[in-house]
Amino acid sequence: MKQDMILILDLGAKDNVAVARMIRSLGVYSEIKAHDISAEELAALANVKGIIINGGPNNIVDGQTIEVSEHVFESNIPTLAVNYENAKAGKSIESLGEDDESKKATLKDFIFNTAKAQANWNMANFIADQVELIKKEVGDKKVLLALSGGVDSSVVAAILIKAIGKQLTCVHVNHGLMRKGESEQVIDVFKHQLDANLIYVDATDRFLDKLAGVDDPERKRKIIGAEFIRVFEEEARKLEGIEFLAQGTIYPDIVESGTKTAKVVKSHHNVGGLPADMNFKLIEPLYYLFKDEVRTCGVELGLPYEMVYRQPFPGPGLGVRCLGAITRDRLNALREADAILREEFKNAGLDRKVWQYFTIIPDFRSTGVKDNARCYEWPVIIRAVNTVDAMTATIEELDWSLLKKITNRILNEVQGVNRVCYDLSPKPCATIEFE
Ligand code: XMP
Repeated sequence: MKQDMILILDLGAKDNVAVARMIRSLGVYSEIKAHDISAEELAALANVKGIIINGGPNNIVDGQTIEVSEHVFESNIPTLAVNYENAKAGKSIESLGEDDESKKATLKDFIFNTAKAQANWNMANFIADQVELIKKEVGDKKVLLALSGGVDSSVVAAILIKAIGKQLTCVHVNHGLMRKGESEQVIDVFKHQLDANLIYVDATDRFLDKLAGVDDPERKRKIIGAEFIRVFEEEARKLEGIEFLAQGTIYPDIVESGTKTAKVVKSHHNVGGLPADMNFKLIEPLYYLFKDEVRTCGVELGLPYEMVYRQPFPGPGLGVRCLGAITRDRLNALREADAILREEFKNAGLDRKVWQYFTIIPDFRSTGVKDNARCYEWPVIIRAVNTVDAMTATIEELDWSLLKKITNRILNEVQGVNRVCYDLSPKPCATIEFE
């Protein structure tokens, strides 16, 4: 291992993640582990320079106070106990407040003076470590990855290609609900530029046939999810000698879904619903990275900016933006309108500023006039929102001239559209997506 580590033992304190992020921002690698970490687990973690025991009011679960294992205090690793009465050794302080500079000073003093950790956490070191680990674990075996083209799966693919090259097989399923040019970019980057083993499956017809006439959003989501697994499974069964399945699980998936102390333990080792007889071992190289670190990792691995800084895109894709029962002509119009919006946002520099922006096509038409004749065509709705965690969202106050330009382009370039609207509703009351 090329980097020192500060370990945070989890007693359920809410700010554990913030503390881990702060330590990483100081250039020192940090991970959160369960409060009852075994002596063997602790010994197996290379380069632990210091341990933070973050107690707080939450180290009481079901009326019982939970304690850090005794052996932690016997390990001779410097410890900093925060708000933890039963600290047996090391420094003890009362609290860590998130925006508090004197916190930061206490942490810095502990990390660099007491624990003597080096600020050697950087992406190049992380990648070198992961490549080494993957090579060791995989040996000469084969690995499979569902490559959607999203940030996480793309970065996983890039890191695995660096580690094991053609021992990785990527399967890209085009469900026909991708945005314009997305599948093409996956093929271009991974097959042509990175020379990966890539199986491209155009399953558009399968998905659209299954979705025909289905107008309930939740049923649409279920059909898309189930069909995705079926197509991926079919491809996986055609391949021989695959032992590992790679997944783009990232740190927030793990820490936000609950820990032993937070009671909501949810298994993250669910391999996307694949049947039990497809018994793969999992490889999750991004397991300890936060989203911004995943992006930095992608940049370090040489992936294109648009791929790494891609705006969030729901799994069911354009399927939940082509409202009601999906039809091919509306879906095509939606894809073209979305491409125009994205191009104009990029030209205006808004692609780096606005969190999520897209178009929607409702399942009703409106009257218009084109070439001196009445027409009855679809409206396109534009949505552009900003948020931190997608739980609430505000509307981007778009420049009027930009809105007019996008409107004119959509009306002139997209077949079957005669009206463009801008959605001004924040979340709540509206959700970000329409369906
Ligand atoms: P809402 O519409 O709930 O969206 O305000 C919040 C965020 O979640 C995304 N979203 C989805 N992502 N599968 C996904 O992977 C889905 O079914 C789904 N529905 C919504 C949405 O794009 C927004 O970023």
